[in-house]
This record gives sequence, C-alpha cells and structure tokens, in this order.
Amino acid sequence: MHSADPDRYLDRMPYRRCGHSGLLLPEISLGCWHNFGHVDDQHEARAILRRAFDRGLTHFDLANNYGPPPGSAEENVGRFLAEDFAAHRDELVISSKAGHLMWQGPYGEFGSRKHLLSSLDQSLKRLRLDYVDIFYSHCPDPKTPIEETMGALATAVQQGKALYVGLSKYPLKRLKKAVRILADLGTPCLIYQPPYSILQRWPESKGIHEWLDEKGIGSIVFSPLAQGMLTGKYLDGIPSESRAGRPEGFLQTEQVEQQLDRIRQLGAVADEAGMPLQHLALRWALQQKGVTSALIGARTVAQLDDCLDALDRPALTEDLLKRIDEIAPA
Ligand SMILES: NC(=O)c1ccc[n+]([C@@H]2O[C@H](COP(=O)([O-])OP(=O)(O)OC[C@H]3O[C@@H](n4cnc5c(N)ncnc54)[C@H](OP(=O)(O)O)[C@@H]3O)[C@@H](O)[C@H]2O)c1
Repeated sequence: MHSADPDRYLDRMPYRRCGHSGLLLPEISLGCWHNFGHVDDQHEARAILRRAFDRGLTHFDLANNYGPPPGSAEENVGRFLAEDFAAHRDELVISSKAGHLMWQGPYGEFGSRKHLLSSLDQSLKRLRLDYVDIFYSHCPDPKTPIEETMGALATAVQQGKALYVGLSKYPLKRLKKAVRILADLGTPCLIYQPPYSILQRWPESKGIHEWLDEKGIGSIVFSPLAQGMLTGKYLDGIPSESRAGRPEGFLQTEQVEQQLDRIRQLGAVADEAGMPLQHLALRWALQQKGVTSALIGARTVAQLDDCLDALDRPALTEDLLKRIDEIAPA
C-alpha cells in the first residue's frame, strides 16, 4: 500500500463535501454487506480493501449484521484493519449501523437505546476500533419513540464512540423529524443512506434528495448497480457465482427476471454511449442532485477496479439522461 500522502487521494479519487459538514467523502465508497462474511473468500476480501485504499477510496461501510453469519463482516474487516491499516486509521472513514435483527431476544434489533448502544459496543469490538466515524440508525422503528433513537445516536457521539451520525432508509416525514431532533440535541445528521439506482428511484420521486440538499445533509446512495443487475451479467441467465446465483445472496432470481427487459434496453443506451452498463449506472447516480457518494459492493478486485474506472467516463449528456428516464422513470 502507498504511504500517507494527502495529495495522492485527490490525484486518484475525486472527493465531495458531505452536505455542509467538514467531511469529504470519495465519489465511490465501498460497502461490506456481501463478500466479506465468513462464507466469502478472505484472500480476495482483503485484497479488495487494500486495492480500494490504494486507489484513493477511504470510506468503508459496514453494519452490525453484515456477513453471513451476522457480525462476520465486521470481524473480518476488523482483522484486515488491524493487520493492514493500523497506521492508516486517521485516513479512513469507517461506518457501522444498528437496527436490523442482530441477536436473539427483545434487544437484538430496532431503535431502542438499549439495542443501539449495546450493538455499537459489539461492533467496535469486532472491528477492533475505539470509534467509528459514522454510526447509523439502520432503519426506522415506528414503535420506539424517535426521541429515544436519536438520543442514543447523540450519546454515541458524546461517548466518543462515533464522530458523526447518519440515518438510513427513513421515509421523508420521519427523516425530517429525526433531523430536527438531532439538531436540537447538538448532534447534526451528517448523512442519509438510501437505496438509489436507475432501477430504484423512490428517493428522487419523494423529493428526498432535494430536501437533503436544501438542509446541507449528505447522501450516500447504496446499491447503485442494483445489486449487480446493472452490469449486464444476467442477460444470458444467472451465473452460479453471482449474487442471484449464490444461496446466501440477497438478490432473488425473480427480481432479476422482472427487470430483464429494462436492463436490456439500458444496455443498448450504454452501448450507444460507448461505455459498459455499470459505468453508465454509476455516472448516472453521481450526476443526480444531492448525491455525495455512490456506495458500491465488489466481489473481486477486478470488479472494484472496473467500478472505479467509471470515474474516468464523461458526464452523461441530457439526451442520454432523457433516454434513461424513458426506460426507467422516477
Ligand atoms: N443501509 C442499508 O440498508 C443498505 C442496504 C444494502 C446495502 N447497503 C450498503 O451498500 C453497499 C453496496 O450494496 P451492493 O453490494 O448491493 O451494491 P451494488 O454496487 O449495487 O452491487 C454490488 C454487486 O454487483 C456486482 N458487481 C459489482 N461491480 C461489478 C462489475 N464491475 N462487474 C460485474 N459485476 C459487478 C457484484 O455482485 P456479484 O456477486 O453478482 O458479482 C457486487 O457484489 C453494501 O455493501 C452496504 O454497505 C446498505
């Protein structure tokens, strides 16, 4: 790996300011939801993190339950961080989350103070870190008072266990309330994490990005390749090593089948634009108002490299954007 040199990041990777905060994030960030669990190839997983960092990508996104089994992605990444990145901790932005089912019993999920703060302690142990840079409420919990969930996020920062807080998948009305409470607590919401791709445009149709932009809150959009569907790999069936082909993969064959027609049409637009579909998808996501970073996954170093190469592609023209809108409207 390269040694610490502030200029190398900007040479290799464009950065964007996260809302009105002081934090810069790489245009492409790497998530460890799949490909980093105990079921995955540890050699490759380690090489992916090292390669990402070498290409100037400084943000790795995790959650308590990533694996499988749940927790194993944090365990494995924690080992790689200790072995390979100990000298680089202050050059990295590491996030984790709590909210989805993680352990048995009444405190293993949702938005209680009990779940969030216990889970963060567990994550820090698995990651072998003193603090995470961003701690998220992973999903809304309508049964827990929102004041309690936001209070737990603020406490995580007061305890020095997180530097910033974020919210994931909150619908706009709840998001607005949560952001207001966090501001009152003196722990402003840094960032929002929604699913967002050409095939999943609800944050746009609900006006979320416009509102975030107005409020100076960043947005890191997850699954910009629609879990791999926006790569063309499924056009001739389901490859056995792909996410839809693997038993532990979250992507279902039926989801792929439902989207095949649109994927084919988008592939033709990408051909015309002279780039592979995955580059078109990433450029599209990065061109949308309010987006700070595109949060990708990669199963191999080659996939990571390919995704990062999308940053060298030109911005999509108005005509291309219009064609995409016609195929996959918001
Ligand atoms: N907040 C939340 O609730 C939430 C939910 C989901 C995800 N996330 C975050 O978002 C991150 C990314 O999600 P994601 O993995 O679904 O993102 P994605 O980038 O849409 O999909 C990644 C997958 O696409 C395939 N792929 C990637 N690059 C490729 C390339 N160049 N050529 C061919 N195939 C390629 C690989 O799957 P194959 O195995 O098929 O090759 C890879 O694992 C997660 O790791 C997590 O950090 C957050």
